[in-house]
Amino acid sequence: MKTDRSRTRSASAPCDRRSRLDQLTLSHKEGFQRFAEAPPRPRPEPLTRHQMKLLSERALAEYNRGRRQWHANLGPLWTPQMESLHEDLWDIFDSNEQDSDKIKGGIALDAFPGLGKTTAALAFARKLHRRILREEGELTDAGHQRWPVCRVGLTANTGMRDFNRAILEYYEHPGRFRGTAADFGYRALDSMLTAETKLLIVDDLHFLRWNQQAGIEVSNHFKYIANEFPVTLLLIGVGLEARGLFSEGTEYKNAVLAQTGRRTTRLGMAPFDINAERGREEWRNMLLAIEERVVLAGKRPGMLADDLSDYLFARSSGHIGSLMTLVNRGCQRAVRTGAEYVDTKLLDNVKNDAAAERARDELDQALTSGRLVSRPKRTAE
Ligand SMILES: Nc1ncnc2c1ncn2[C@@H]1O[C@H](COP(=O)(O)OP(=O)(O)O)[C@@H](O)[C@H]1O
Ligand SMILES: [Mg+2]
Repeated sequence: MKTDRSRTRSASAPCDRRSRLDQLTLSHKEGFQRFAEAPPRPRPEPLTRHQMKLLSERALAEYNRGRRQWHANLGPLWTPQMESLHEDLWDIFDSNEQDSDKIKGGIALDAFPGLGKTTAALAFARKLHRRILREEGELTDAGHQRWPVCRVGLTANTGMRDFNRAILEYYEHPGRFRGTAADFGYRALDSMLTAETKLLIVDDLHFLRWNQQAGIEVSNHFKYIANEFPVTLLLIGVGLEARGLFSEGTEYKNAVLAQTGRRTTRLGMAPFDINAERGREEWRNMLLAIEERVVLAGKRPGMLADDLSDYLFARSSGHIGSLMTLVNRGCQRAVRTGAEYVDTKLLDNVKNDAAAERARDELDQALTSGRLVSRPKRTAE
């Protein structure tokens, strides 16, 4: 167990409200369990405009409320990016099921924000949770509740003590309020062992205090966990490579981080790319999948995949986060205004994230001039 030098640090900086709400659910084991075991959300029945007119005011309000929630939670969709990531994750996870004296291979999922890292990792964790409970039962041999997955999200400027504390929070360990960082570390590992946790997800690792004593400590701690405990570590973040997680540095600091790198497999997630036919087909399939889920009275086949293929690519740069934001907001507006249809006119009034808006002009020009095409040949006129 490493000793702690960050004991006197103050607690993490407050995070924004949205991520705090997320944490309320997924940063506790019961919240994760709810997520993992929830049945699929029921889709509101598609009604025609005429059927909607026949509803009472109250029934219509209820119907629209259901559609608001539905459109706000259209995912996760089984994208090619998610599919190939999951294959790699299964390979590594399953090959780690070896006798405990062997070092477990860790995973670093390193990609820009908004590409679906958290969503894909949680979808994997959900499947793993279900598989392990199905195969091994809810209780461990020692009679404790089994928690196959532990997930912690780091917030600004996390050090070692905060990290271990987040694990204790996840398990709702009674000792999470008081103790030295070493106590916290010991209890955290004990919780994982007791619950026979097999996958430890550390999300938003870029919030770790890198290149400082605390960064080295946490990195060493990851190594210690990987060496001593039967868990697979899934580290997720932005720019992990640039921050030295895999570097073969000569300085002491980098050398310590490098050792984490040597047994860590780096995985990425890419945006949709329409430069080749295969990518255009994937883009189209994605739009068809979303289209299929949208519940609007004026929807018709091709509303997104044909009519808005270029437009949606230009506005999202092929980033799933920006695409889903735009579709979600567009559908909200289509329900609220009674348009019941999504087209460029409606979407022009919908704001998207700043990065997507910045990339838009250039893509717009390439697409309208024909230098870039978003639809596969098979479907483009
Ligand atoms: N496979 C998916 N299907 C549907 N929506 C997705 C999918 N992946 C990501 N999203 C959407 O994109 C947004 C960003 O995804 P997220 O997983 O938070 O990205 P990251 O962790 O890489 O920043 C999410 O809010 C989610 O709505
Ligand atoms: Mg994320």
